[in-house]
Amino acid sequence: MLPTTTDTDIFTSSAPFADPTAWHAAVTPLRQKAAVVGLTATGIEPVWAVLRHAEVLEVERQPELFTNSPACTVSQAHAVMIPDHAAPQMKTLVEMDGAEHLAHRLIVNKWFLPGSIRRLEQAIAERAREAIEIMAAHGGSCDFAQDVALHYPLKVIMTLFGVPDVDFDLMLSLTQTLFAAQDPESTDDAQEAMIGFFEYFQVLADNRRAAPTDDLASLIANATVDGEPVDVLAAFGLYLIVATAGHDTTSSALAGGMEALAGHPDELDALRRDPALLPNATDEIIRWVSPVKHFIRTAQRDYELSGVPIAEGDRVLLSYPSANRDELVFDDPSAFVVSRPNADQHIAFGFGRHFCLGVHLARLEVRKFYELLIPKLVHVEAAGPCVHLASNLVSGPQHLPINYTLR
Ligand code: HEM
Repeated sequence: MLPTTTDTDIFTSSAPFADPTAWHAAVTPLRQKAAVVGLTATGIEPVWAVLRHAEVLEVERQPELFTNSPACTVSQAHAVMIPDHAAPQMKTLVEMDGAEHLAHRLIVNKWFLPGSIRRLEQAIAERAREAIEIMAAHGGSCDFAQDVALHYPLKVIMTLFGVPDVDFDLMLSLTQTLFAAQDPESTDDAQEAMIGFFEYFQVLADNRRAAPTDDLASLIANATVDGEPVDVLAAFGLYLIVATAGHDTTSSALAGGMEALAGHPDELDALRRDPALLPNATDEIIRWVSPVKHFIRTAQRDYELSGVPIAEGDRVLLSYPSANRDELVFDDPSAFVVSRPNADQHIAFGFGRHFCLGVHLARLEVRKFYELLIPKLVHVEAAGPCVHLASNLVSGPQHLPINYTLR
């Protein structure tokens, strides 16, 4: 008998991700029994959830066999099931495969390598200081997710693009509705936000073509693909993926980190005593939170994965939060331990060809914030229940009330 579960909601619906403790309690026994389970009654079957670390890597290592097109998320998989579904005209990196993906990834890849990111360290430290000043201005209690974590990564992205702080409110409202805009059942508001975002980046790209600078907006605007100037939609796709993939993910990691530290005072003490643990703690935070909940691949031919026959055309759903709690890789995986010896083996950033473009930036943002905050943070505790965002794609704390004392 092949392992299947009828409790498919936990992977494909958004609501279960609002309660990560209950989610892990439901998924852990499934993972302990099998690396791969078939999901029924999802509306997108045949679909297999890949729950263990080794098997997620096995899929990600074979991008020709397991492709990102035609649908790389649950909501896209639902969209392509609609009869006469018209493929969207614009694709971002995560929707591309093969040569097309490589050509577009190469435009931005170098800009995000560790050497390039290092030169942003001062600018990011400045943004982190601003975020800590916001905490100070709140006078000892705030909703950390809304008041701090939502803002800082977006300010960093604005720094990358070289756009002015006065555009912050506009950018925030646009990025916050954009995830919804990618949903086939999106509202007019979300579609309007998409158009607003397009217009914003059109003006920016035109400006950077007329007067290039050394920012990311200029790099994208003036890029070439196969010797031709990058087309308008492809450039927009790059602006869009950086702005969306770089925002909620890092906000979730930052807020999830605060939730973890407030709930584990001994671990916070360990970081106070030994700040050299911070790079490792950053990975432990990202492992523990696993902000990206899944990506989907489609099998291009029959393949056996952990004894399960995956047929050509089947979908596989890579469950990063489950793989990051795989007891075959991590001892006591549900514990939050800043000195965990193999925290950096997590695969919250994926793996292989689509490995997160912003991995070094995301780590730097989280590390820099806590590096500057912890010496000032005399005390922190939860001031009410932490509410996680109900999203099956990217989620972390949406409301995190805390009380704290800053030196
Ligand atoms: C803690 C924060 C973050 C997490 C957990 C995260 C996670 C991920 C994951 C799981 C993927 C898919 C990998 C795969 O399919 O194997 C991905 C792709 C991507 N991420 Fe991140 N990400 C984070 C931050 C960022 C930041 C800060 C940026 C940019 C500013 C960024 C840009 C991207 C892009 C452009 C892709 C698509 C890459 C491709 O398809 O080639 N991410 N990320």
